[in-house]
Amino acid sequence: MKDNLQSPLKSLDDWENDLLVRYPEKGSKKTEEFRDYDSSDRAEGVKTFYKLNHEIQTYDFVCKKEKQFLTFNKKEMSLWNAVDFLNTLVDDSDPDIELDQFQHLLQTSEAIKADGHEDWFVLTGFLHDLGKVLCLFGEPQWAVVGDTFPVGCQFSDKIVHDEFFTLNADSKNPKYNTKLGMYNENCGLDKVKMSWGHDEYLYQILKDFLPKPALYMIRYHSFYAQHREEAYNHLLNKEDHENFEWVKKFNKYDLYSKAPTPPDSKALRPYYEDLVSKYLPEKLRF
Ligand SMILES: [Fe+2]
Ligand SMILES: [Fe+2]
Repeated sequence: MKDNLQSPLKSLDDWENDLLVRYPEKGSKKTEEFRDYDSSDRAEGVKTFYKLNHEIQTYDFVCKKEKQFLTFNKKEMSLWNAVDFLNTLVDDSDPDIELDQFQHLLQTSEAIKADGHEDWFVLTGFLHDLGKVLCLFGEPQWAVVGDTFPVGCQFSDKIVHDEFFTLNADSKNPKYNTKLGMYNENCGLDKVKMSWGHDEYLYQILKDFLPKPALYMIRYHSFYAQHREEAYNHLLNKEDHENFEWVKKFNKYDLYSKAPTPPDSKALRPYYEDLVSKYLPEKLRF
């Protein structure tokens, strides 16, 4: 039995399945399927997950995690080792219906490729969730996945389960609980600290190697309150707005590319090996 505070979700995918309930693909039958899921005990797990996430992700918490992880002294791996490492992540999900992490990455990137996008976009789809290795370093689920949001300023009521922010100490701190908090109007997201998770972590690992739109996709793909709800326009600058068009484009592939048949990972591997070596160094520091 897993510790409920560490792992309230049966599977990391439960968060993503919950996203499909909140943001169903237009005209898709899947919506019905995922509604059933909503009433199950998985939904309870998702609620507990957000309660913990919203309560504990304060400005200070994020600073602490940055100190802990942005020295990159945990592990040195090639991208392929990182993919294999991520695939050792086993949770309580049903192996008959859930695809493994590698397959989710491949489905995302193959859907991008099928639409004829540039190779760096395909590569971004392939590696966008590698930051989830944080789970394998012992981090609790609510500090790895889940919608991300700015800390250091007021929490938007557009964030899922915003009612749990009353539990967050920052919501009572006048330094942090005004609309702009520590920030200036339209200062740009690069100056804004986001709640800690797999997006920011992977961005920091890859920031020297990929084109800017790719880095935006990686860094903000879980920032639903902005790319879906536009709740933080007062913090974005012009460059952010331009690049969020890419984040939105990416989100479609991230959420809606889950096909029931697993991709043929063996056959696809040579293509991705070339792509990885075109953009990334031999070893990455985690
Ligand atoms: Fe993700
Ligand atoms: Fe993803």
